[in-house]
Amino acid sequence: MLTFPDKKEITKEEIEAALDFSSAQVIENLAIFTHAFQKAYSENGFYQPIPNNYWTTGFWTGEIWLAYEHTGDERLREAGEIQIDSFLERIDKKIEVDHHDMGFLYSPSCVAGYKLVGSKKGREAAIKAADQLISRFHPVGEFIQAWGTMDAPENYRLIIDCLLNLPLLYWASEETGDDKYKTIADKHIHTALANVIREDYSTWHTFFFDSVTGAPHHGATCQGYRDGSAWARGQAWGVYGTALAYKYTYREEYLPIFKNVCEYFLAHLPKDLVPYWDLEFTDGSDQPRDSSSASIAACGMLEMAKYLTDEDSAHYRTLARQIMKSVYDNYAVKDKKESNGLVLHSTYSNHSPYNTCNHYGVDECNSWGDYFYMEALTRLKKDWRLYW
Ligand code: GLY
Repeated sequence: MLTFPDKKEITKEEIEAALDFSSAQVIENLAIFTHAFQKAYSENGFYQPIPNNYWTTGFWTGEIWLAYEHTGDERLREAGEIQIDSFLERIDKKIEVDHHDMGFLYSPSCVAGYKLVGSKKGREAAIKAADQLISRFHPVGEFIQAWGTMDAPENYRLIIDCLLNLPLLYWASEETGDDKYKTIADKHIHTALANVIREDYSTWHTFFFDSVTGAPHHGATCQGYRDGSAWARGQAWGVYGTALAYKYTYREEYLPIFKNVCEYFLAHLPKDLVPYWDLEFTDGSDQPRDSSSASIAACGMLEMAKYLTDEDSAHYRTLARQIMKSVYDNYAVKDKKESNGLVLHSTYSNHSPYNTCNHYGVDECNSWGDYFYMEALTRLKKDWRLYW
């Protein structure tokens, strides 16, 4: 297993200082972002407000809840509850919910609000979101379709990111006593892990199936540099996603998958342990970084550390502390005049000659980068009851 013996670990005092600054930044932002949400990415370091109509809005509400956990400040609780009203309205009116990102939207906002302050509206909204998510399940291919209308063969694919949407289904089964959500999540995980992980444990971003037979067809990237490369965030979703898959299923075969997907991620990091946006690039490259991937992977390592032997667990905790030390030292915002976000140098969607995505949010803060930074710090500070 790869180790980085020359790298320092984030200290208790730095974790506290980072959470203090982040929480103060979130509180300052409430003036604009209580009845509105952060745009997915900052522009020149600053987020603009948007309505609750994009796949990323749950991360901002998640930051509010994490700041509430850190400070106990009642202004945060009130703002979190106002945002839950908006999420309930969104799912009731089906505003921009015809995609698979119900977990990203409803776990850090509504499940979190239910777990932390017993929000009944949060519970109702999250169960409705789970119903929406399972409506995208294909029984023949045995997966949840990511994007687009359900009847078009060109949309018949899953994407690795979806592993983070599935905890919503396990939670919904536990809450309602109805196994239908969990059964679908189990099937999707099985199909996803059997197909998106390549032989060398790099990962496909997206994977297509034959819409008639359900047979695996081919992998392709959308946001990575090229089809055969490993998009950094896809690999990071793979690290955290397999840890969560193990948490909810306890299937032994997911343990080596976690370890190997993680090892691939670590082996392709530059010296400061924060990846470029695609793992194709390393030290010396002038390509942008994706700092969000570092925090996401650290969260996955800290989750998986709960289920491993003492030795393995210590190994992954050390790695997570080393990665977060670099994110804190080299990427985190330290002055509110510089940005109203938390972590700089993330990349949302970087167009390349070989991929199919648009170009935006490159080398900026992004909402999930900020959220997973706070989550990783909170996990390092205490035994955190996860929102996922
Ligand atoms: N789930 C989309 C992304 O990671 O950009």
